[in-house]
Amino acid sequence: METEYRVGAGGRLRGRVAIPGDKSISQRALLLAAVAEGESELQGLLDSEDVRTTASALRALGVDWRWRGAALRVHGTGPAALHAPRQALDLGNSGTGVRLLTGLLSGLGLAATLDGDASLRRRPMRRIVEPLRCMGVRLQCTDAGTLPLRLDGGAQPAGIHYRLPVPSAQLKSCLLLAGLHARGRTCLKWEKPTQLGHAALEMRDHTENLLEAFGAAPERAPGQVCLEGGTGLRGARIPIPGDLSSAAFFLVGASIAPGSELLIEGVGVNPTRRAVLEILRAMGADIEERPRPALLPGEPLCDLRVRTAALRAVRVADNASSDDVARLPVQVVANAIDEWPALMIAAACARGRSVLRGARELRFKESDRIETLAAGLEALGVELRRLPDGLEINGGRLHGGVVDGCGDHRIAMAFAMAAAAADGPVQILNCAGVSTSFPGFPEAARKAGLELEVTAGASPETEARDR
Ligand code: S3P
Repeated sequence: METEYRVGAGGRLRGRVAIPGDKSISQRALLLAAVAEGESELQGLLDSEDVRTTASALRALGVDWRWRGAALRVHGTGPAALHAPRQALDLGNSGTGVRLLTGLLSGLGLAATLDGDASLRRRPMRRIVEPLRCMGVRLQCTDAGTLPLRLDGGAQPAGIHYRLPVPSAQLKSCLLLAGLHARGRTCLKWEKPTQLGHAALEMRDHTENLLEAFGAAPERAPGQVCLEGGTGLRGARIPIPGDLSSAAFFLVGASIAPGSELLIEGVGVNPTRRAVLEILRAMGADIEERPRPALLPGEPLCDLRVRTAALRAVRVADNASSDDVARLPVQVVANAIDEWPALMIAAACARGRSVLRGARELRFKESDRIETLAAGLEALGVELRRLPDGLEINGGRLHGGVVDGCGDHRIAMAFAMAAAAADGPVQILNCAGVSTSFPGFPEAARKAGLELEVTAGASPETEARDR
């Protein structure tokens, strides 16, 4: 049986919703706490499938942790306490979990096999395998460059000087975590960030912020970070802000559903994550930021109040001339990498033709998000064109229909919000993946005003067989 959402047409989004902890920060905080000396308290850690699989993998490596209310306590006894696991580590659906843990284990010279579910087994791993091999790590992936990954363990690797060939924060963090326990210095470089409003257009920098919170001293400059290997970490208290990528669904839902006014509480607005706010504002969204005291250095926090607005089209990395569209550079892609499903729903409801280019990375996420978005939008009557590296969408009215969520959490949540502006109900098949990043999403969506019903439907395979 597969989980399905049935979402009633229309429905204003009103009142307030709280957003669960940031997934990227939660994953990193866990991994760093696991190799720190002393107790860490991770407050508001995201209790989702992805974080649970990382926590289980750490337990299999000998790390002692337990939940205490909404906080997870990690009893860190330093990197030497971790041992090779007896069985393959299963990271489920989590790309961040598998790539960052591979980095950490590489630095420690531990032997392990890392694997995941069918979706994770399709995702590219060569981007981490090649630079880790250059550091002297002995590891294998399949000939297709995918999981399972096998680390042979053994000698301590050497630091690396490396220019990132893809703007992937998972790759950057994997190498920083490997560099943390490597011999010598690791220096990583990438394209220097540019600014869009208050957003720094680059990859997220949570690993650097958290390394500092745990007592390390990464040397940071625009487009570059260096880290001395062998720095010991100290246990720390880490308060985790709400996840802006999860808030993005509500930002879009309340922007497109007539008569909405919603307060989204306790959201992290780190400059390397906030392009989604700048993009929506450029499209005409009405979003007010109400700052709160920051809980963690480098990770500003605020409440977001969003009201319905008439949106205009957005063009990313597109030169064609036309009036009244928001034009944005290709550098917005990496900063808002997880928000494109929600943003493409906004584009489908906006006036004019939106164009997203330079976003080929979306094909390598939990699903091929260019294809799953295109298929879902077509099912709701949207006119569009697929591009190798993006989408062209003619904004207008959304109709009701049946969409395949393809087990991809962000696709399912984006289409749940689409129903708020559609003229008929939207049924979303294959939604089980939502719990990887946003446990309690159906309840939060209902609280905000969506008529969302969760049912256990037939799996796509069963349906195909029965036809
Ligand atoms: C993440 C980085 C991004 C993002 C993912 C989380 C992270 O992936 O899509 O959801 O925590 O570093 P890439 O680094 O592959 O772009």
